[in-house]
Amino acid sequence: MSFCSGQRHQSPGAFDPHLSRTLFLLLLSVALVQGVTRSPKDCLVFQSDKGSSISCHPPAELPSYLPADTVHLVVEFFNLTQLPADLLQGASKLQELHLSSNRLESLPAKFLLPVPRLRVLDLTRNALTGLPLGLFQASAALDTLVLKENQLEVLEASWLHGLKALGYLDLSGNRLRKLPAGLLANFTVLRTLDLGENQLETLPPDLLRGPLHLERLHLEGNRLQVLGKELLEPQPDLRYLFLNNNKLATVAAGAFRGLRQLDMLDLSNNSLASVPKGLWEPLAPPSRDMQDGFDISSNPWICDQNLNDLYRWLRATKDKMFSQNDTCCAGPEAMKGQALLAVAGSQ
Ligand SMILES: *[C@@H]1O[C@H](CO)[C@@H](O)[C@H](O)[C@H]1NC(C)=O
Ligand SMILES: *[C@@H]1O[C@H](CO)[C@@H](O)[C@H](O)[C@H]1NC(C)=O
Ligand SMILES: *[C@@H]1O[C@H](CO)[C@@H](O)[C@H](O)[C@H]1NC(C)=O
Ligand SMILES: *[C@@H]1O[C@H](CO)[C@@H](O)[C@H](O)[C@H]1NC(C)=O
Repeated sequence: MSFCSGQRHQSPGAFDPHLSRTLFLLLLSVALVQGVTRSPKDCLVFQSDKGSSISCHPPAELPSYLPADTVHLVVEFFNLTQLPADLLQGASKLQELHLSSNRLESLPAKFLLPVPRLRVLDLTRNALTGLPLGLFQASAALDTLVLKENQLEVLEASWLHGLKALGYLDLSGNRLRKLPAGLLANFTVLRTLDLGENQLETLPPDLLRGPLHLERLHLEGNRLQVLGKELLEPQPDLRYLFLNNNKLATVAAGAFRGLRQLDMLDLSNNSLASVPKGLWEPLAPPSRDMQDGFDISSNPWICDQNLNDLYRWLRATKDKMFSQNDTCCAGPEAMKGQALLAVAGSQ
């Protein structure tokens, strides 16, 4: 809901997440067809001085063995419900493994033992409901773990034991309702955490005690109602914060106090009618100028003197405000439909 009288406008912040992937695949196929001979049943093989990159898509057949110098393996769109047990045997140099768009329901516990140098594991769009204990016992080098669009309803901290270098964790598009305490306690180098598009109603207040330098946090598309003062406190380096499409009605006055580097904030499409005094102080010039923008549109703002703080912040940062025409007062009656920025400007 925009709460604005007059025309609706598209958010300028919208972008197509599929585009970068399409471009990547396009570039990959261009790179791979150069100087390679193959039959339709073969996977594409691309050799460089770093090692072999192997890319398998239907109708190719899965290779029965991998060259010992394989560093990059793609096995996507096969609808596999199980992986061949010894798929990675002998590929001890493997650094990247892409298994998206299959139908994997589980993984063998010893699956990753042969590949201790693995840095990237992409399991996007499978049917995983859990991970086996011990899966990552030899995965000390793993930097990127993508579990996006699976069927996870719960998560156990123990599933992730063994990960020591995790910098990027994507759990978006699952069915998570809650998270265990201490989930991230050992992930001190985590930079990006994506928990978007789940069913989270609350978060453990100490969730982010552990990571020392989080830069991107995605919490959009959940059912969060309250943002407490503790959650973000331990993250001075956070630059991008996505809280849009939740049910936030309450944000604690000190919620943003720990943030020293925030450049982008999305609070659009929540249930905010008002916010406490002092909330915006840490995000105001001269300390911050929200250089990559902010969005507070599609909230039922009640435009009375309780928003004086917000008006002041808007006047100072309005150049960085997205969806200005969709950021309107839902009340009181006399103000309904007016643009928040216009109200702020007239104060
Ligand atoms: C995988 O499943 C999809 C959807 O059912 C289907 O369109 C596609 O052809 C299947 N692919 C293979 C390789 O079987
Ligand atoms: C953190 O790592 C230690 C040592 O590997 C382990 O005993 C502990 O259970 C881990 N904590 C969590 C929450 O994963
Ligand atoms: C607003 O958020 C709800 C979830 O709270 C979502 O279902 C809806 O699609 C969102 N609307 C827009 C325009 O993003
Ligand atoms: C917002 O509304 C104003 C006044 O109606 C209009 O001039 C302007 O182009 C609109 N901005 C956007 C981004 O749609």
